[in-house]
Amino acid sequence: MTVLRASAERLAASTAALETLPGFANHEPSADEFAVLDPSTEQRIATLPSYSAEYAVEQVAIADEAGRAWAATTPRYRSDVLHSVYAHLMANRDRLAFVISREMGKTLAEAQGEVQYASDYVRWYADELLRPAGGYRENPAGGSTILTKRAPVGLALLIAPWNFPMAMITRKIAPALAAGCGSVIKPAGLTPLTTLLTVELMAEAGVPRELMRIVTTTNPGPFSEAVLGDPRVRKISFTGSTEVGSTLMGLAAKNIVKSSMELGGNAPVLVFDDADLERAVEGVFLAKMRNGGQSCVAANRIFVQDGIADAFAEALAEKMASVQLGDAVSEGADLGPVIDRRAVDRLTALVADATDRGAELRAGGAAPDEPGYFFEATLLDRVPGDSDIANTEIFGPVAAMSRFGSEDEAIALANGTPFGLAGYVFTESLDRALNVADRLETGLVGINNGVPSNVAAPFGGMKQSGLGREGSHEGLEEYQEIRFYNIARRDTA
Ligand code: SIN
Repeated sequence: MTVLRASAERLAASTAALETLPGFANHEPSADEFAVLDPSTEQRIATLPSYSAEYAVEQVAIADEAGRAWAATTPRYRSDVLHSVYAHLMANRDRLAFVISREMGKTLAEAQGEVQYASDYVRWYADELLRPAGGYRENPAGGSTILTKRAPVGLALLIAPWNFPMAMITRKIAPALAAGCGSVIKPAGLTPLTTLLTVELMAEAGVPRELMRIVTTTNPGPFSEAVLGDPRVRKISFTGSTEVGSTLMGLAAKNIVKSSMELGGNAPVLVFDDADLERAVEGVFLAKMRNGGQSCVAANRIFVQDGIADAFAEALAEKMASVQLGDAVSEGADLGPVIDRRAVDRLTALVADATDRGAELRAGGAAPDEPGYFFEATLLDRVPGDSDIANTEIFGPVAAMSRFGSEDEAIALANGTPFGLAGYVFTESLDRALNVADRLETGLVGINNGVPSNVAAPFGGMKQSGLGREGSHEGLEEYQEIRFYNIARRDTA
């Protein structure tokens, strides 16, 4: 398949968005710098500093002091600032989308969707913080009254992934600011420019710069050790792999740092015979192809019941085959590149292993021999359970389908993994949908819905997919401590 290339106008418009950012006057990186590449072209688009652990600890001091002052502001004040941030992000929607597309590779339409999704977290918390949770209880034995209230947890370390470079930042920083916390932010080395622009826009809209200290670095180990070793840091929120999450939890344990971990997924999709075929194909396509399949909640193992499987595979194959590859900012692309060369090589190896073991290639399957990290939208059917692709997080535009007979078999297949972030059920029976959803060991379930994430929903996983929740009021509690005052009462009669 040929890859659509961006017009000169689109390239110029997207480059104009990059030009305003630090690092754009780019040069060959020195020993303490690193390059940011455009995955559509493999060209360097910025050169940024890789900061030392000492620099990171200096940022801890700045953000901690600013956080204490911020915690003393009123909820109304913080809400007004966050509403201004929302308006300013929206006013810069195109600029943000261009930067996301150029450094991460998602299409411009998807990047615009991400700007809205990311900004919605800011708006949600601007409203939510006006209703602080608190309670009143009576001592069952009498003699005292108990008040509960929430206090900011303190300085937060926020470590974000590259796949949603704006939304994963705002989903952390908005509740941190709403609760009254400062933060030290480590963006992903592959996509730091979106974070730099988002935080710059937040500062222009009124958030003190000292509250949001960004540290770009290619040495995450020493960085995390130094920052989590500093007793001023009271919270970590990390999105990334289970392996790194587990290491960070080990470091956080030293100072008993409150931890939220949004880790790996291996989402099962169950399509039952009684599903509406069109609705199921559309939903599974979205669950697989959103963000080019590079999402922790992406449909990873697609199990389809025997009676509908042939028709489903044919319809999904047709849809996958019609996906047009192109530069992320090109006009007309349905799918941009994946993040880097390693991802292309990994997907190539997964497809080869599956077909060697007997899977049927129904669409795509190849990486075009052109500049850029492209991989075709791919459908594999009858994927054997022992193939690598059935046992790993695919993180790319490759759909791996297999078949099942009974509901019990489907549940056993779905839950047969140490991960438990997202699951999906497609059926027109309400009873079946709810019964199956109840039995899935996942933090979230899309029912006839390929995109279950929502700012009002508590996003997070079970088992090795993580701890804690992001978004919704539960996401605010992650940046708060619950306290109580027990007020003794004497009888005055
Ligand atoms: C993720 O891939 O980590 C986040 C996806 C989402 O928010 O839907």
